[in-house]
Amino acid sequence: MFSRRTLVALGLAATASAGPCDIYSEGGVPCIAAHSTTRALYSAFSGALYQIQRGSDDTTTTISPLTAGGVADAAAQDTFCANTTCLITIIYDQSGHGNHLTQAPPGGFDGPDVDGYDNLASAIGAPVTLNGQKAYGVFVSPGTGYRIDDGNGTATGDEPEGMYAVLDGTHYNGECCFDYGNAETSNTDTGAGHMEAIYYGNSTSWGYGAGDGPWIMVDMENNLFSGADEGYNAADPSLSYRFVTAAVKGGPDEWAIRGANAASGSLSTYYSGVRPDYSGYNPMSKEGSIILGIGGDNSNGAQGTFYEGVMTTGYPSDDTENSVQANIVDAGYAITSLVSGPTLTAGESISLRVTTPGYTTRYIAHTGTTVNTQVISSSSSTADQELASWKVVTGLANSGCFSFESVDTPGSYIRHYDFDLLLNADDGTKQFYEDATFCPQAALNGEGTSLRSWSYPTRYFRHYDDVLYAASNGGVQTFDSKTSFNDDVSFEIYTAFA
Ligand code: AHR
Ligand code: AHR
Ligand code: AHR
Repeated sequence: MFSRRTLVALGLAATASAGPCDIYSEGGVPCIAAHSTTRALYSAFSGALYQIQRGSDDTTTTISPLTAGGVADAAAQDTFCANTTCLITIIYDQSGHGNHLTQAPPGGFDGPDVDGYDNLASAIGAPVTLNGQKAYGVFVSPGTGYRIDDGNGTATGDEPEGMYAVLDGTHYNGECCFDYGNAETSNTDTGAGHMEAIYYGNSTSWGYGAGDGPWIMVDMENNLFSGADEGYNAADPSLSYRFVTAAVKGGPDEWAIRGANAASGSLSTYYSGVRPDYSGYNPMSKEGSIILGIGGDNSNGAQGTFYEGVMTTGYPSDDTENSVQANIVDAGYAITSLVSGPTLTAGESISLRVTTPGYTTRYIAHTGTTVNTQVISSSSSTADQELASWKVVTGLANSGCFSFESVDTPGSYIRHYDFDLLLNADDGTKQFYEDATFCPQAALNGEGTSLRSWSYPTRYFRHYDDVLYAASNGGVQTFDSKTSFNDDVSFEIYTAFA
């Protein structure tokens, strides 16, 4: 028999090292799914967090926490992925329920990958630190999605559940639907009330909140609810935190949306009350599959970044969620560098020389709006030299990366469009800024730099038949060919010709 004093001491010790799922268990609502590429979500968890596959030989490895309950071993990933590309192939369920998330299959909509599957995320698109230790999140570009259809232990029908996710509050769009949570087992839209998932973004197709977004909403199928009413609910605020905690829960005639800065402070309640008074949403008809980055019917146009998230059985109390938020804050999420390799400096002008054997007299240049490679030298005309000269500017969508402005056409930048690289005038849109932002990293073949798309981090500047693309290392387009990929994406940096 423990004395009361011993129990208190044990309780304090457990609380000090408790992970989010230990806190939910203590609150009587255990996790039935726990997903994170950044850290263990139980104090005792030391198993695999996620699996990655590298482009060089298609082999896989798993990444685990450095210590039980700790941060992911990002160095193991960096070593495994050195001089090649890596994709996140499995996000393991730490709860023991086997709810591992893998490449989402086609459904009401096809994904862009082979056989209508969605794309997998790059393993390096979302670097962060947790209390100073490096880890990687899951950077979901449009077309990317993860899912498990036959969820185990997830809520079905009107059963109660809770969930939270830690997200990048600055990475979002208005497409359907950057979700994490409960969805259809068939990958198709089976009607109102068949989903209950966290949504994050600035879609106004269904619900929306105050300001221009992004908002946390709940995807209940054929509707994103921001509060009691369809459409607008003033109490759901636009969020501008770099790291966002989104907490959602739903049970018989009750549900709630709560949110916070994941790096400090406490959760606010944006809605808590009865079910929406529209046909199909009370009672709910939850099906119990789990989605990440997509809508219930595999709508896959949305983008966002996921660091960690869980689903529980039972409706968590606000107090339990508040303790989870405190734990997330203690995890110490912070930004870190997006770049590596030779330094680029905003304001300098550069020329980029091809390193693929047989093509090394060619530089990245343009012909009208087509970005290509051309043979340029110090004896070329000034006009030709200017075609191959690029001003480096601070990344239009992310100040940790860069954009490339044409020296002969000021105001025009290299951007991807349908994964072609084009030279287009800045049109002032968020889409343009994102399409025109690239993150240099140490060249995949060791010679200079490789320029990774910020918005599609599986894709790099790549010449193919002397034309530039945003290409992935293997993929459905011809220019994604794995042959010569490392050389084709590696460019030596020189002071600009002109
Ligand atoms: O509820 C919004 C979206 O509508 C769902 O995610 C999708 O399944 C349907 O297209
Ligand atoms: O290049 C891929 C996408 O194609 C861009 O993000 C978008 O602008 C275009 O539709
Ligand atoms: O761009 C020139 C060559 O075209 C690339 O090296 C090769 O991958 C493609 O065939």
